[in-house]
Formats: sequence, C-alpha cells, structure tokens
Amino acid sequence: MRLFFASWPPPAVAKALAQWAHEAQRVCGGRIAHEDAIHLTLAFLGEADPQAALVAGRAVRVRATSLPIDVARYWKHNRIVWVGPGKVPPELAELARSLGETREFAGHVTLLRKAHPPTQLPPLPPLEWPVREFLLVNSTLGPEGPSYEVLERFALS
Ligand code: 2AM
Repeated sequence: MRLFFASWPPPAVAKALAQWAHEAQRVCGGRIAHEDAIHLTLAFLGEADPQAALVAGRAVRVRATSLPIDVARYWKHNRIVWVGPGKVPPELAELARSLGETREFAGHVTLLRKAHPPTQLPPLPPLEWPVREFLLVNSTLGPEGPSYEVLERFALS
C-alpha cells in the first residue's frame, strides 16, 4: 500500500483549478491532473501499515481550517506546476505533523507534470478551499498516472 493523507477540494474549487491548469498548459505544456484527482497531500506515508494510519488519523485533534491558494509556481527539479499557499497556515502545518509528516510541510497542489519552465503563469482566480476533513488514500501507479482509492475520511472539529 502506498498511503498518504490528503485534503480534497470541493467540486467547484477542483473545477476552477482544472480550468486554470488548462490555461497554464498553453504556456508550459505537460500533463494535467484529472479534476477529481486534484488534492493537497498533508502527509506522505508511502509503504505503510493501513491499520496504524487509521489509528493515527482517528487520534488527530485539529480544528477545521482553510487552504489559501494564492501562489502558482514551477519546480524545476520535478518539472511540476503547482498552486498553494504563499504562507502555510499554522493549523495545516500542525495537521501534517500530527499525521506523521516529519519534513517541513511544503503544501502544494500539483496541477501539471512534465511541464516546461513557463515564462509567466496565468493569474489565479480567487478560491476558497475549506479543510473540514481529511482522507486516508491509497495510490496505485499505472501507465496513465496514479489512481487514488479513499480508505477512510476523518472529520476535523
Ligand atoms: P506530488 O503531487 O508532488 O507528486 C500521492 O502520490 C501524493 O503524495 C501526491 O500528492 C504526491 O505529491 C505525494 N508524494 C508522492 N511521493 C512523495 C514523497 N516521496 N514525499 C512526499 N510526497 C510525496
């Protein structure tokens, strides 16, 4: 099992981000994330015991928060275009930590893979991404890219 904890956006936000990704693709090419696969990884567990992950997820006591999407960037090292918060809200960093993420939380939502360095990315629309729950997800890698299976949902207070 290749497990991770993540936040999925409401459908309207996923739609707006997918539209933005199409605009960005005109500038820098690459492969677009499917609208229903757009997510923010909170903690990447990799090959891990699902039972232990369920226990960790149920033990979390963090308040509901929201994810500001105010920057769009290109990472040269893995050729992705991502959007996310310019400054990570402390509640999200705490959530990531309590889910077992040991590295500094670099909140990013990948929208394009195998992209070329863009000259300038299009402006982002205003978006409100509430984080009222998080999900434990299993990722399976296939020729068409990863596919995701939700194992459990956890509500935030
Ligand atoms: P990515 O979008 O930057 O590839 C499922 O694979 C999710 O876990 C994706 O959001 C992916 O981020 C993230 N992920 C994959 N491998 C990872 C790793 N080694 N460390 C952190 N996150 C990882």
